[in-house]
Amino acid sequence: MAEFRLPANSRIVKGRHYPAANGASDVQRFVVYRYDPDSGKNPQMDTYEIDMSSCGPMVLDALIKIKNEIDPTLTFRRSCREGICGSCAMNIDGSNTLACTMPISQVRGDIKIYPLPHMPVVKDLVPDLTNFYAQYASIKPWLQTRTPAPPDSERLQSKTDQERIDEPSACILCACCSTSCPSYWWNSDRYLGPAALLAAYRWLVDSRDEATGERLDDLEDPFRLYRCHTIMNCSQACPKGLNPARAIAETKKMLVERRH
Ligand code: SF4
Ligand code: SF4
Ligand code: FES
Repeated sequence: MAEFRLPANSRIVKGRHYPAANGASDVQRFVVYRYDPDSGKNPQMDTYEIDMSSCGPMVLDALIKIKNEIDPTLTFRRSCREGICGSCAMNIDGSNTLACTMPISQVRGDIKIYPLPHMPVVKDLVPDLTNFYAQYASIKPWLQTRTPAPPDSERLQSKTDQERIDEPSACILCACCSTSCPSYWWNSDRYLGPAALLAAYRWLVDSRDEATGERLDDLEDPFRLYRCHTIMNCSQACPKGLNPARAIAETKKMLVERRH
């Protein structure tokens, strides 16, 4: 289970219990982290019993049902319900994943749900991603060119060149990887983490980009890149099947190669 960092001077206490309606025959229990930093109260685990005969198949379906029918104060992010926007990332049954693509049937017993580990919490299951997004912005995730574009066409790529950026471009910035990385837990003020480093790699290997040298200069730092110790949690956590650890290793290789 990913380590969960509590707010300072607090402990998790037992919360409310919402039993299933009388007559429900297929009951699944969801035990959910509740915390409102403005309340001054300890975080608590609330238990909701859901009748699965009237609930969709994914964990997000259950959370939406809880919010709509049982407890409107439960707070979480979601948008697409298709594994595309990255909003519903949270820690379910000990793993960081997307609630909208996580089948309830894959978990045995009570389903414990926490926010992404080691992030400040805005409320309940909503982590504060301010630093995460600032790190993404810091790698300058856009095409940088020095030469003028061809007058009569776009900047073209070969199919092979395009294929090099296909995988890293598929990142949905859900933060499951970075918040499963022990190096990131302890050094997120200085270490960029796997999501931002995968994005950096995506621009390093883009054949149209002309700022490769500056991009590598920006990464050559004991913390920003080299805090990755190849623990590989990030690639295991990615719900899109991407491999940030490999991208980080390739980036380190590019730095070694340019020294020779
Ligand atoms: S491989 Fe690097 S980025 Fe991925 S979890 Fe390990 S230390 Fe973190
Ligand atoms: S690499 Fe995967 S886990 Fe990390 S932010 Fe992108 S989609 Fe999410
Ligand atoms: S709601 Fe968009 S990824 Fe889950």
